[in-house]
Amino acid sequence: MAPQKIAAGNWKMNGDLAALTQLDALTADGCQVLICPPSVLIHAMVQKAEGSAILVGGQDCHDKTSGAHTGDISAEQMRDVGASHVILGHSERRADHGETDADVSAKAITAHQAGLVTVICIGETESQRDSGETLQVIATQLAGSVPDCATADNTVIAYEPVWAIGTGRTPTEDQIAEVHALLRDELGARFTDGANMSLLYGGSVKAANATQIFAIPHVDGALVGGASLKADDFAPIIAALTAA
Ligand code: 13P
Repeated sequence: MAPQKIAAGNWKMNGDLAALTQLDALTADGCQVLICPPSVLIHAMVQKAEGSAILVGGQDCHDKTSGAHTGDISAEQMRDVGASHVILGHSERRADHGETDADVSAKAITAHQAGLVTVICIGETESQRDSGETLQVIATQLAGSVPDCATADNTVIAYEPVWAIGTGRTPTEDQIAEVHALLRDELGARFTDGANMSLLYGGSVKAANATQIFAIPHVDGALVGGASLKADDFAPIIAALTAA
């Protein structure tokens, strides 16, 4: 079984009810299409996506199933309103909320128990890359953020170099290939179905570079921020992945 091809959109803290009409111009055949809106829009987006193959996910969840955690949302609640996936460990969560690899792993376990597929994000900062630490950082984050219960069915890995997010800068093809080969090797060594886990690249993916990025070995799709907000930008990325 080859890894599932996935075009995933991360709306971050963008969008409103009116923006859900963007789904009207998106089709999902030939690859999975996942959109992760802010949590307040998940239910409405699930309803909007009904009858299409578009999947809807959250951007974070708590590591507890319920309780006194004001402002937080549980994986079970996301599942209840129709989400199928949840992004975990995005660098913006790690930076803004101090999330550690152990936090991400704990959340992933809870999300899997709730029946969600996790999209676990890892990536080096610019200074880590400049000082030659990228592969070590990635291996450490991968080992610490992905729990033992991960399988190719419940886990997707997204490599998102922090310095490429929202900057218009992307790594070279060789740099992406090097990290994705490491991910494939490490996952294959640790998990029986590690060879089948989907590996996404994220960071300034747009229509103009998607085809090139999807041709890189062990890149099974993308986690797209800014270019996922408008169907005109996201549809060509989905088409590029379908054609890859
Ligand atoms: P951009 O595509 O806007 O660079 O964001 C990438 C990202 O962080 C997706 O999670």
